Amino acid sequence: MPGPLVSLRRAFSFAVMLAAGAVAIAQPAPTPYVTPHAPLLGSAWYPEQWPESRWDADLQLMQDAHMNVVRVGEFAWSTEEPAEGRYDLDWLDRAIALAAKHHIAVVIGTPTDAPPAWLTSKYPDTLGTNADGRRRQHGNRRQFSYSSPRYRHLCELIVAQLANRFGHNPKVIGWQIGNEYTDESFDAATRAQFQQFLKAKYKTLDNLNRHWTTAYWSETYTAWDQIPMVNTGGNPGLLLDHKHFVTATWRSFQMDQIKVLREYILPTQFITTNIGGLGWSDNWDHYRITQDLNLAAWDEYVGEGHLNAPKEAMLNDFVRGWKRQNFWVMETQPGSVNWAPINNALYPGETRALAWQAVGHGVDAILYWQWRSALNGQEQYHGAIVGPDGTPLPLYPEIQQLGADFRVASPALAGTKPRSEAALIDTYDSRWAIDFQPHTKLYDQQQVLLDFYKPLESIAQSVDIVEATANLDSYKLVVAPSLNVIDEALTAHLVAYVRAGGHLILGPRSGMKDQYNALDTERQPGPLAQALGGRVDQYYALESPIRVGSGTAGIWAEQLSATSPDTKVDLRYGKANGWLDGQPAMITRAIGKGSITYLGTIPDLALMQSILQSAAAGAGIRPAFGPIPEGVEVCRRTASDHTVYILINHSRAKRQVQLPRTMHEVLTNKDLSAITLESQGIAVFTTGNNE
Ligand code: GAL
Repeated sequence: MPGPLVSLRRAFSFAVMLAAGAVAIAQPAPTPYVTPHAPLLGSAWYPEQWPESRWDADLQLMQDAHMNVVRVGEFAWSTEEPAEGRYDLDWLDRAIALAAKHHIAVVIGTPTDAPPAWLTSKYPDTLGTNADGRRRQHGNRRQFSYSSPRYRHLCELIVAQLANRFGHNPKVIGWQIGNEYTDESFDAATRAQFQQFLKAKYKTLDNLNRHWTTAYWSETYTAWDQIPMVNTGGNPGLLLDHKHFVTATWRSFQMDQIKVLREYILPTQFITTNIGGLGWSDNWDHYRITQDLNLAAWDEYVGEGHLNAPKEAMLNDFVRGWKRQNFWVMETQPGSVNWAPINNALYPGETRALAWQAVGHGVDAILYWQWRSALNGQEQYHGAIVGPDGTPLPLYPEIQQLGADFRVASPALAGTKPRSEAALIDTYDSRWAIDFQPHTKLYDQQQVLLDFYKPLESIAQSVDIVEATANLDSYKLVVAPSLNVIDEALTAHLVAYVRAGGHLILGPRSGMKDQYNALDTERQPGPLAQALGGRVDQYYALESPIRVGSGTAGIWAEQLSATSPDTKVDLRYGKANGWLDGQPAMITRAIGKGSITYLGTIPDLALMQSILQSAAAGAGIRPAFGPIPEGVEVCRRTASDHTVYILINHSRAKRQVQLPRTMHEVLTNKDLSAITLESQGIAVFTTGNNE
């Protein structure tokens, strides 16, 4: 039975976290999980909320919708351990066995996002504290402190019980740790850990004081325990280190559970977590957290309104980039959510289109949240697949069709993944550094990324979004929309990419800060200024759009100059704010076998399209599929011997698509050279790689 190993691990975990700092934890790289029979379809199912006599009917309805996976157990701690040390997992065993009878595989969620009432009352020190100093209370979820050794120990005990019981059950294919790691804690014990973390990183207070420039406003620290812990309004160096601390703390929270799981479970069972915040949340670094997992998974919700196709495409590509592998949508909305200002339903067909789009971008499983709404609890109005009466809601046939689609398309999709010749790069440090001091409220970094992504995706028809430090060798063109923080290692990495033949475009606000979030003593792009043979003379937040080249630019503009005779000016501002009038807005220098470009502003869509079009043409990038009508998205997944194209008509009207050659359409089993797609229509084509 689980026991001593779990408690021994405690002391170790904090040491690992401290050593982790902002960088990597020395762990063997987890084996990537390859989803068999992808794409899978399923749902979050909470059997503990329903009489057992009802389970079979629910599972039959899932089977009838061609579902083949359920996620269970997440949030079920009070049912699994009704009193301290008294475990009841028999019901879960029976639920898993019954699901198997319906050919439905199981992912078990560890329940650690919802500690039971006995736990929080007996161990109030496990409760987290909000940034305003208020201690969280029972009655919701996520009330725990992520850094509490006692809480982590209690988590390990329940996880060990689950892993011991189900870790060799062949019907269990994987594990999800917790749920959407969200709230950090600001209690005194966590602050002491933060100070330890800083000590491990900086070694001496002099060093910390220097990098944070604490002489400013008399912030100089003479003892580690004087250092505050805040997540807003503090010294930018401290704020960045706090983000690193939050990342390391969640990572070690997760690692504690990974270690327990790996002691007991089959190596074939994957470990993941479901990442929330609509994929874009930045409370911690998603690259680091997913590094220790076999599979990345996110929760994709549209919320209010309808599918913004380029934005959701970008978010899926962003998630794929965390591990540079296919991934899962662990939760998505069946029609509507309950938390948006207006919880409208998606249009008929839109739920299916959303799912197919995700698959096009590398998703290997789609799970709805949730199967049936709990009769009480905070989320009674959330979209579901069956109603409170237990019969299918109007959306059910659409999900059933999706299940049938997946079944037919699965052989073609097996072993395929997206492949791109163009990449966007980013780092959390840069995102955080800009968001701590945006300088203009208009600088919305998700929108800035989209301003680059949308035209680039329409040109290349497949774009990766990866961390700036990733291996870039396979890309002909790399665009860094706002690479604010650049250290020496990243400089060397990017210069090597360019010298070897890569084409790099840096966007505005690049190369302004060092890794401590201090201003660089060289003008932007700091350590890349020499390679660029140019620099930013000054930056300006714009009150209103200005002229640039043949178009306009809004939000932000930088006045550039060439410092090397072989740096050429590609674009100039028109009449603007006086300072910018006639000044260079974009400069390029060829170095080695490649080139480096600095674009100091965010042009309108048409101008951005033409800038990226000529950069892509110069880099030798061609669209993966060829011309497609407005409103239709094409996604490509490839294997060594064939390519799959997924076409989705996101527009509200029919669209006629001419194919580049005759291809086999999988859903209708026909060879076609053209197709008419209804609104929300989907087509899945296969073709050999050399045709
Ligand atoms: C997710 C969460 C689920 C559920 C869902 C509702 O963020 O993981 O438990 O609350 O939102 O949309």
